[in-house]
Amino acid sequence: MATQEPILSVRNLKTYFKSGFGKNKLVVKAVDGVSFDIYKGEVFGLVGESGCGKTTTGRTIIKLYTPTDGEVYFKGRRINAGIDSIKNAIKDAKTDTKNKINELNSELNEKLAEADESEKEKLKTTYADQIKELEDIRDKKIDKLKIEMVKRKKDGAPESKDKTNAALMKKMQMIFQDPIASLNPRMTVKEIIAEGLRISGEKKEKTIIKKVEEVLETVGLLPEHANRYPHEFSGGQRQRIGVARALVISPEFIIADEPISALDVSIQAQVINLLNDLRDELGLTILFIAHDLSVVQYFSDRIAVMYFGKLVELAPTDELFKNPLHPYTRSLLSAVPVPDPNFEKKRQRIKYNPSMHEYRTDPPELHEIKKGHYILANTKELEQYKKEMK
Ligand SMILES: Nc1ncnc2c1ncn2[C@@H]1O[C@H](COP(=O)(O)OP(=O)(O)OP(=O)(O)O)[C@@H](O)[C@H]1O
Ligand SMILES: [Mg+2]
Repeated sequence: MATQEPILSVRNLKTYFKSGFGKNKLVVKAVDGVSFDIYKGEVFGLVGESGCGKTTTGRTIIKLYTPTDGEVYFKGRRINAGIDSIKNAIKDAKTDTKNKINELNSELNEKLAEADESEKEKLKTTYADQIKELEDIRDKKIDKLKIEMVKRKKDGAPESKDKTNAALMKKMQMIFQDPIASLNPRMTVKEIIAEGLRISGEKKEKTIIKKVEEVLETVGLLPEHANRYPHEFSGGQRQRIGVARALVISPEFIIADEPISALDVSIQAQVINLLNDLRDELGLTILFIAHDLSVVQYFSDRIAVMYFGKLVELAPTDELFKNPLHPYTRSLLSAVPVPDPNFEKKRQRIKYNPSMHEYRTDPPELHEIKKGHYILANTKELEQYKKEMK
């Protein structure tokens, strides 16, 4: 069951994709300043429309991407980090000091113009001392920032040589979005599942076979499936192979990236039930990515709603369904099917129009409007949402 102890913390995470040069330079802000905690034992749903940055968030957490900025902590240790804000802080420190020195110099020149010859030398030393002091403060600040930058670069390096980090990363696994493309067609199921074990240093063939068979059973496949190839399986079975591959090295935290959206509706429930059972049996923590709310509704303890690289709302599942505040959340909710034919006939989808926000003069921030319920809003909207709360 879920605790209040975070297993994963994401802080101001930004992952930008840059392409082209000069005039054709294009920056896609796939993840743009996202923060959240995932508690040990919970299922955390991450929901949003196609292209909003869900997969990029997952892939940055598991170190397939180096972030542009921000930090990811796993089991109390920083495992990934970006340096943009540090670079900017260094630049700011330089310009700041430069401007202050310029001011002091013009002040000095004014005073020199009016001063007696006898006072001039003294004035010059006083100002030189002040300038020196500013430069010292700047240099100390920059030294500290540079130390942090080196640390972040090390933590953000794709393949950390740090053994503790490498051991820690084995406790995190990802089930990929596309069960067909993510399984090597030339490898047998056994080879696919065993790969992770071998990478993590397991050499004994007997142990490997035993573990593969165990995990196949865990996900509801048979030992004799081990020697077959991915194309010999149905979509649902392939996704089970993906789950088995993630589970075989006994992770504590799993990122399940739309693990069921490529599957038939009839099989979707099976995979969800499988993940639910595994969560209870193995005490797993799961980040479950989906593009609509109906999938995560019965499975997640808490849900985060993402829109264009940003979190717009985050709340416990019941609370989010009872008290959806952000217009984008409401729009997603209006698409969730209800088992009532009369309602379904009348149902109207709410469309979300992002230009409704007036963020130019009053930009939004994520506020905790009620314990555990976070909403992206500016001052005016926050007041409005408070009135709308049930
Ligand atoms: N490797 C990449 N290089 C350049 N741009 C990328 C890359 N990966 C993703 N993007 C862009 O980043 C944005 C977010 O993509 P992402 O795959 O994270 O979305 P998603 O929420 O997972 O969508 P879906 O529901 O379709 O899987 C998109 O605009 C996408 O085109
Ligand atoms: Mg995706």
